[in-house]
Amino acid sequence: MLGWRQIWSQSSHGSHSRVEDKRILLIIGGGIAAYKCLELIRRLRERGASVRVVMTAAAQHFVTPLSVSALTNEPVFTDLFNLDDEREIGHIRLSRDADLILVAPATADLIAKMANGLANDLASSVLLASDKPPLIAPAMNPRMWLNPATQRNVRVLKADGARFIGPESGEMAERDEAGPGRLAEVPVLIEAIEEVSDARRLATTVGAAGPLHGLHVVVTSGPTHEPIDPVRYIANRSSGKQGHAIAAATAAAGARVTLITGPVNLPDPTGAETIKVETAEEMLAATERALPADIAVFCAAVADWRIAEQGTQKIKKKKGEPPPALKLVANPDILKTIAGRKKGRPDLVIGFAAETENVLQHARKKLNSKGCDWIVANDVSAESGVMGGDHNRVHLIRKDGHESWKQQSKEDVATALVEEMAREVESSKTKAAGSRSARVKLGKS
Ligand code: PMT
Repeated sequence: MLGWRQIWSQSSHGSHSRVEDKRILLIIGGGIAAYKCLELIRRLRERGASVRVVMTAAAQHFVTPLSVSALTNEPVFTDLFNLDDEREIGHIRLSRDADLILVAPATADLIAKMANGLANDLASSVLLASDKPPLIAPAMNPRMWLNPATQRNVRVLKADGARFIGPESGEMAERDEAGPGRLAEVPVLIEAIEEVSDARRLATTVGAAGPLHGLHVVVTSGPTHEPIDPVRYIANRSSGKQGHAIAAATAAAGARVTLITGPVNLPDPTGAETIKVETAEEMLAATERALPADIAVFCAAVADWRIAEQGTQKIKKKKGEPPPALKLVANPDILKTIAGRKKGRPDLVIGFAAETENVLQHARKKLNSKGCDWIVANDVSAESGVMGGDHNRVHLIRKDGHESWKQQSKEDVATALVEEMAREVESSKTKAAGSRSARVKLGKS
């Protein structure tokens, strides 16, 4: 079995292919962009992955099963009722044998089938029979992509855990058509496949015996909503993606994880106990109830203020009167409260700092004022796209210095942060063992 560090170093530094020996099931939908799949198959096979392909009937109008089969060195699967295929390898096995399923190009029709659980051909049956969320690379006419029906289906699939790559914006094959709808380029598809493979490898290989095994980790995530009256509230743009990714990565590293989250549109991460709250006060109460913990990570974007006096009824507009003035009062600082506990403080308290200017300088001040051990600082100015986006560029600040990490997916930030936690846990174990043996030498116990 690979060790934690080995896995991480392979996945992060790429000395060895991140998809080597991975079994990838590629479902090709019917779109002009299907031709890019030929290049994709070649690149994946060069990296040591094996690729099996299911083609929809429409896909076969754009590329031939013969050329796909020549590149994969495998038969191509096209028919749900092909007795030979069903005898040799049924659609359930096709689906379960795969480490990862990529749908590319995912047409509006395939996306609609997936979102609604239809299974009337081989591609949709394989997808419905799968126990892993697929990677979906859409490609279609921009108006089809932007159609509310497609967007509704995309939201459903994301909530079910599917990950979307693209579509990219640009000129379409049809004349005078441009906009979002182009299939992501092959290197982008490969990068996404590699990221998902890394995350799943950590989850399955490290599992319960991982470096955080035996530890309890509390993570806060998402925004808080502070009610103004029964129908209105103050909120912020946090999506919970970063905090949820940290909860998933710590669970994959073997920890018992309690995730305390404000209102988000994300599925609960696998392996974590998820507690849903709305306000900062509820988040503090839930965090205190979740203790004791060995590590606490405060990623939530907690509202600094709440309304002093919430309306018990919907506040009415009154003709001729100015709008109501909202009086704010400070919310409890959850991070500061937990980091300042005399009794039952987690051994490692990690805060976040969301800054729009002088990121390092402000974050360093927070490290001191909040009393935490580390701060993960990120730039949340509108241009960074961090709040609500899929990527983040963070600086990990400790009392004795900082390191700046590259821009990467929020999942990769989470994996790298978990690696740092694991390193910290290991070094405290070594220190504890050292002082125990010193005490033994001195005749103490
Ligand atoms: O959710 P995403 O869309 O993925 O975006 C991720 C993120 C930008 C929200 C995340 O990476 C992040 O920066 N989270 C911290 C947001 C924040 O509130 O930062 P802050 O600098 O205002 O607060 C500093 C720290 O104090 C944070 O750890 C925060 O959780 C904590 N805090 C703040 C106020 C408060 N009343 N209680 C707290 O615990």
